[in-house]
Amino acid sequence: MKIVAIDYEKCIDCLKCIQVCPSRLYLETKNKNNKITAQFADPYGICIRCGHCIAICPTEAIKYSNADQPFDIGKEKKLDKIVPYENLLKVIRMRRSMRVYKKEAIPRDKIEAILEAMRYAPSASNRQNWRYTVVTNKKEIDNLSKASSSFFRIARKLLPLRFLAVPFLSASARKMVLNPSSKLQLDNNLKRLEEGEDVIFFDAPCVIIIYARKYTKNLAANDAGVALTHGMLAAQALGLGTCWIGFAQRKLNGSRGLKKHYKIPKGFDVLGVITVGKPAMEYQRGPPRRKLRVQWIE
Ligand SMILES: Cc1cc2nc3c(=O)[nH]c(=O)nc-3n(C[C@H](O)[C@H](O)[C@H](O)COP(=O)(O)O)c2cc1C
Repeated sequence: MKIVAIDYEKCIDCLKCIQVCPSRLYLETKNKNNKITAQFADPYGICIRCGHCIAICPTEAIKYSNADQPFDIGKEKKLDKIVPYENLLKVIRMRRSMRVYKKEAIPRDKIEAILEAMRYAPSASNRQNWRYTVVTNKKEIDNLSKASSSFFRIARKLLPLRFLAVPFLSASARKMVLNPSSKLQLDNNLKRLEEGEDVIFFDAPCVIIIYARKYTKNLAANDAGVALTHGMLAAQALGLGTCWIGFAQRKLNGSRGLKKHYKIPKGFDVLGVITVGKPAMEYQRGPPRRKLRVQWIE
């Protein structure tokens, strides 16, 4: 999308575009009637294409190219009237990491609806740099699950040697390997694996992988997290369940061959993996959470 100019036939000189532009690319100027109006100038190409000028203009006077239509929300523009906080919080509190799915394929339009919600996530400098691979082929999901579960086997083999590794581990990794429950958890997962359970994707019929170029790594990871959160909440509103799968994310990033297999281009980092499926269970309530830890500086 590229801002082209202001259509002065439509412009009513409200100057709102000046107020909202984060890059300050709209300036006050005088028109031929000596009236203050706005002028758009981006000689150095620093516009981040956030589209706030298009979104705020009451008369659709901002001309732009290379973009789809802006979203027309209709008459009611107050979001708190459309989805009151209490209702939004219900969806947020009842979203669960779903690990029990029905063996039902998810219609493509529903997956696209989830991706559509991710598309509108905020991103650093409005980069929207994320890309996706959507896997619905059972053999391919099983393949990635099998590869990701190798972690448990390797970790179990290395566990007896953990005392040698301790001096080289971070405090949190040290705490984890020395915790007796780590062995129990690994053994439990290995037993479930032997019994043929899919301990990585829980037999979900769809897996979405999100990735972005390495050079935007720092903030790209944040961007991907926000996008996936949009998707996970959207899935909930579509009657679907999701779960973020860190094990698969880690495995993909550690294997160029797997990345290639799942169509992740060279130079891209996997920043998140989620399952999507029809929940086989209905949660009755949201679980308790930690208390907020907030410092107020007033
Ligand atoms: C970055 C990240 C990685 C995660 N990785 C896994 C995973 O590999 N396997 C899994 O079963 N759950 C995974 N989870 C889900 C968390 O365990 C879950 O969010 C947490 O227990 C809270 O439960 P809730 O999402 O139902 O509120 C992950 C969550 C996040 C945010």
